[in-house]
Amino acid sequence: MIELYLDTADIEQVARFKQCLPLKGVTTNPTILAKSLTGLRDLLASLAEIMGPNARFFAQVVSTTVEGMVEEAKKINQLPYDMVVKVPATEVGLAAIKQIKQEGIVVLATAIYSAQQGFLAALCGADYLAPYVNRIDTMGADGVGVVADLQHLINQHRLPTKILAASFKNTQQALEVMKLGIGAITLPVEVAAQMFAHPAVQPAVDQFSKDWHGAFADKLSFES
Ligand code: G3P
Repeated sequence: MIELYLDTADIEQVARFKQCLPLKGVTTNPTILAKSLTGLRDLLASLAEIMGPNARFFAQVVSTTVEGMVEEAKKINQLPYDMVVKVPATEVGLAAIKQIKQEGIVVLATAIYSAQQGFLAALCGADYLAPYVNRIDTMGADGVGVVADLQHLINQHRLPTKILAASFKNTQQALEVMKLGIGAITLPVEVAAQMFAHPAVQPAVDQFSKDWHGAFADKLSFES
């Protein structure tokens, strides 16, 4: 089954979606944490309380050197949760990923804007790849196409890497990449909410209710 994550540091929203979606965990990035003004340790403690012991969390290194990223990855990995370390798939990041994998740490290569960049990250040993679908679209390119090419390369070369598609502004982008058989996806809160917010749904449910009560008053289904 595809792994479903929420891309947020909003505790209340995680609690909300934990109730109604099969969330495997929560992804973050430095911008998300900076905007929430919550440090990683505090956030993880709150998230773990909501999500339970089997949840998986993603945290990104902020170091800019290979050595720094490797040391930071080790520290993130030592946190008492199921952690995946996010590393930008830059030249420096790819070098770090190679070393981090030698430590047996689970790694996601992030900031992926092309299939070739993602493919190299997979060859360097990344367990997950995060192509930025909406950001690619916004640049006038084809985010879904990049994900399709990347999934094709992973299949062709029989790599164990999973695509964790990220950066969405609408449900259509999410649907299109899910149709490609990707292993994981992370949704911002707004897009997750749009998934079940089709404008025709509530009127349909209201009509059922009106028809029922018109015929059977306050009886429940099994009482009729
Ligand atoms: O972590 C990367 C991804 O979440 C970026 O999303 O919405 O900032 O393009 P966005």
